[in-house]
Amino acid sequence: MPKLFHVIESQQFDRPMLDGELFPLAEEMELSLKKKRRLDILRDRLMLRLFTEPSSRTLLSFGSAMWHLGGDVDGSEHAREFSSMVKGESLEDTMRTVEGYCYDVIVLRYHEAGGAKRASESLEHTPLINAGDGAGQHPTQAVLDAYTIVRERGSLDGVRVAMVGDLSNGRTVRSLCYLLTKYNGVCLYFVAHPAVQMKQDIKDYLMRRGVVFYEVEDVHDIAGEVDVIYATRVQRERFGDKIEAYNRVRDLNLIDRSVLGLLQEHAIIMHPLPRNSEGGKPEILPEVDSDPRAAYFRQAHNGLYVRMALLKMIVAS
Ligand code: CP
Repeated sequence: MPKLFHVIESQQFDRPMLDGELFPLAEEMELSLKKKRRLDILRDRLMLRLFTEPSSRTLLSFGSAMWHLGGDVDGSEHAREFSSMVKGESLEDTMRTVEGYCYDVIVLRYHEAGGAKRASESLEHTPLINAGDGAGQHPTQAVLDAYTIVRERGSLDGVRVAMVGDLSNGRTVRSLCYLLTKYNGVCLYFVAHPAVQMKQDIKDYLMRRGVVFYEVEDVHDIAGEVDVIYATRVQRERFGDKIEAYNRVRDLNLIDRSVLGLLQEHAIIMHPLPRNSEGGKPEILPEVDSDPRAAYFRQAHNGLYVRMALLKMIVAS
């Protein structure tokens, strides 16, 4: 079995795999695409994507990655509405069925934490990649986030990262925390209203690994001290009917000119995207987009190269 088979959580990745294999391979993919639009690495291989939650970046970059590697893509982008899960079919039965149609790789986005692990346990021979499971994890996002920090800053060792926004429901920040524990001298600032602060399981994990973190309510208090601001969307879909709770926190700690003014020259602003531009102000105001420190669209583009690298490691080996 290859070193990397199912990708369920970001704890699976270690430093030699990231620094020694994945990151160099992602760079190699970027260079290869400059010379040739479509490679032959995964010719005659098939990816099936099943998504029960909406997605733009993850869905499309995985599809694009597979196409650029020479493979094919099929699946259901609206599996919660249009697959037989609507008729009451369990995730486990769905996976047992789908595995008969695809030996190469299944990419699953699921609406409940733990869905990816459950799905992988029903598979006998096909690797599964977690493309985000509810408020659980989004490991490939964490890898592309870490890759972006390395590309922009040179190293993850000693990095000071402020995670801002909805930390309680955010699977991207959870996965990134796990990944950053692999590096030395990392310092984290959790900038959030107490109602959406980072969950205790992550704080316990960081404490066990000796990673320093601080809980803060106002981004202005720490903006001048950090290398990375990692803003996140307050996730309306995770609040259910608690509209008042959502409204209380949605417009806090927006990244605007006042934050840019405090930020160091070398610092970068990241966001897993999408940012929410409806019904209020987005987490990062458009006035920030033209600043060279705004790295979030470069970050999204890195997703293609990182996912190509991951697919090559998992499917071609
Ligand atoms: N960052 C991310 O997962 O974006 P999508 O929901 O658009 O895939």
